[in-house]
Parts: sequence; C-alpha cells; structure tokens
Amino acid sequence: MKILVVGSGGREHALCWAIRRSPLCGDLFCAPGNAGIAEFATLVPIDVLDTDGLVSFARDHAVDFVVVGPEAPLVAGLVDKLEAAGIKAFGPSAAAAALEGSKGFMKDILAKYDIPTAAYGRFTDADAAKAFIRARGAPIVVKTDGLAAGKGVVVATSVEEALAAVDAMMGDKVFGAAGDELVVEEFLTGEEASFFAIVDGITALPLAAAQDHKRVGDGDTGPNTGGMGAYSPAPVVTPEIVAKVMDRCILPTVRGMAAEGKPYRGILFAGLMIDKGEPKLLEYNVRFGDPECQVLMARLESDIVALMLAASERRLAGQSVTWSDDPALVVVMAAKGYPGSYQKGTVISGLEEAGLVEGVRILHAGTARDKEGRVVATGGRVLGVTARGATVAEAQARAYQAIEKICWPEGFCRHDIGWRALER
Ligand code: AMP
Ligand code: GLY
Repeated sequence: MKILVVGSGGREHALCWAIRRSPLCGDLFCAPGNAGIAEFATLVPIDVLDTDGLVSFARDHAVDFVVVGPEAPLVAGLVDKLEAAGIKAFGPSAAAAALEGSKGFMKDILAKYDIPTAAYGRFTDADAAKAFIRARGAPIVVKTDGLAAGKGVVVATSVEEALAAVDAMMGDKVFGAAGDELVVEEFLTGEEASFFAIVDGITALPLAAAQDHKRVGDGDTGPNTGGMGAYSPAPVVTPEIVAKVMDRCILPTVRGMAAEGKPYRGILFAGLMIDKGEPKLLEYNVRFGDPECQVLMARLESDIVALMLAASERRLAGQSVTWSDDPALVVVMAAKGYPGSYQKGTVISGLEEAGLVEGVRILHAGTARDKEGRVVATGGRVLGVTARGATVAEAQARAYQAIEKICWPEGFCRHDIGWRALER
C-alpha cells in the first residue's frame, strides 16, 4: 500500500517507524515530516492544515491510506475530505473529533452518557463564569472550549487566579477564538495517566497506558509543556483500572457517539485521573499522545497498519493487539527556553553514536537538515530519545546513556523521567 502520514513531530516519527515494519507498507510519504522521518519516508512539503493540498497530493500519487497524527487537521475535517475523495483514512471525522476540538461538547457527552468526570459549567458569558467560580471557590480549573495547543488550561489555586484566567481567555482572547466559550470545572486529585484505545465506530480495543511528564523541570516543577518524557506501561493502570476505564468511559463514549450520529473511528486517548483505584476522565484527545506514542510504538508487536486499516474499515471486532512486556521510556530533548521562546537552527551532532546504544531509538520531533546536511533544531521539543529495557530502570539508564553521546549545547532534558514508576 502507498501510505501518507500527516504530521511532523515525534509522534509521527514513531508512527512512520511502526508503519515501516508492516509488510503491508509499500511507498511511505510524510507531510511535512522532519529529518528523522526522512529515513523511513519521502517528505512532502505540505502543511498539516492545508487539507485541500493533502487531498490533492493523495489523489495525484494514488495514495491508498492516510494516517493523520495531530488533532488540528482532524478537527478541520481532513478525514471527511479524504473519504469524500474516495481515499481511505485513519482518524475521526470532524464531527467526532469535536471530543477534543470542543471541551464543552466533550463534557456534555460525558454527562449525557453518565461517564465519571469532574463537575462542570459551560460559559459564553464572562460574568456567569465568574459567578460560578465565586460560588464554587478554589481550587478550580478554567479551560478554553477550543484547541489551544495544550495551553488553554489553568488550574487555579485561588478564586482571584481563576477570575484572571476568565479575563485573559475571554476578555483578552489570549487563545483567540478558542476562548469564546469556557469550561469551568471541579479540581480533581489523584495520579494522572494516559490510556489509549483503537475504535472503528462500534468496537473499541484497549491498546496500552502510559504516563507523561508535563512540567518542564525535574521533580515536576515549572511551567506545563507538551510533555518532557513518558513511559509505558503505567504501573498505576492495573488490569482492574483498564476494565473500569473500558466499561465506564470508552465503551459508553463509543456507543454514545454512534447514537449521536457521530460514530468515532481512530485513536481515542483518555486523559485519566486515578484516585484510590477509581478512574475519572479529565479529557479526551482524538489522536495518539506525543510523547506517549513514542513509547507505545517501541512496545507494539502487532502490525499497526493492519490495525488502523481494520479500524477504518469497521472490522476491529475479533482483532487482537500484542505488546512487548519490556517497558519503554522516552526522554524529550528540547531547545533551551522551551516552553517559552527559544533559538532555532542550532546544530545537533552525535545522533548516530547515540542510536547505537542497546535498545535505543532516536526519534525526531523538531528537526531538519541544513545545506551542509547537518541536523538542526527547528522546534521547541526536538528529539525523543526512546529506549526499551527489561525494567523501567534499565530503559531509563539506556536513554540517558544515549543522551550523553548527543552534542547539542543549546538543548536540555529532564533527568528524572520515569520517577513515579521507579518509586513504586
Ligand atoms: P487537559 O488539557 O484538560 O488535559 O489539562 C491539562 C492538565 O491540567 C492535565 O493534564 C491536568 O494536570 C490538569 N487538569 C485538567 N483538568 C483538571 C481537573 N479537573 N482537576 C485537576 N487537574 C486538572
Ligand atoms: N502528551 C500529551 C498530549 O499529547 O496531549
């Protein structure tokens, strides 16, 4: 099959790595891709939001199957357009991608189908949102309804902070139209985990769980990021928790979305808060996590193309998924300054030697090659040093051993990825 992957991050490098392992994969393209992805796929310089450009490319090159990595093109209707053009695609329709594209829509679905989550209110009026916050008190959580690249969430420890978040999001529009509507919700405590299922509209198969490290600094300090590292499996997600999440969250959501006339197909990523063995849903994402995908693809033994194709053709029932028992762990290397402003175009070397460390695969997130063929950093999160090992400790040691061989003075990483799993 000719396959096109849409995206350019570490998630898409991991997907291309897994797709290349499939005997079903012939020519592989990636739009727009990065320097690491170029090792597996032909790069196509089309932006992920240029949905018409992507459909034309797929048609002109007789692409058989399109795999969409990030949420923005899904919410923008890329899969709908591809299918209208007769091209098979993996990922939800725009209507189903609203589970991530509108937090208000998602919360209403959870409420309607009785799925455990934080109590909430939806607001298009700032005064009403503020009255709700004053009545509830702090801590309280304020979220933009729309996509804000993972930044539209304020966990407020005081009423004043929550009121200021309403002003910033709705008044000053710091996240643009994403803040036209807000969700204000109850603060939940517990341990967070990411859980993934693959869904074909009717059938949902559990994949695996992972935990990421959202804060930029060691010891989970500093501002939130897209994720500075991850590992899988997540010890907190026991088989009992998986059963509860499937029965109480994933399956009712899949049935509910079908009943709403918006059948869900693709990866359903449940952001969970687990407290005393009881999972609650923090949010849904309509795609693999980044960097969670990197560790899932390091552990997946099944053919990812066969699974995605089965999901897009509504024949997941009866399929099974196998995983390596070995844990995997990824340490993200980011440009100094991230998640604030940072320098671009700095040169990275030592990647080949680092990739030779046993069990290690260097996945690229924000890289390109310059005129001299050197790898240069082009984004905030730049590399995902991914390792497998017999234990989390071994995977962690291997990842950090590889990082020592990478020469990139303008980069940094956390030094404690996996600490929760190691502490257990
Ligand atoms: P989200 O983008 O909704 O996953 O939110 C980003 C982060 O904010 C989550 O990973 C949590 O750490 C935190 N968060 C979101 N909602 C809540 C909540 N209701 N209670 C406590 N923390 C939350
Ligand atoms: N790592 C969290 C996410 O992809 O949203």
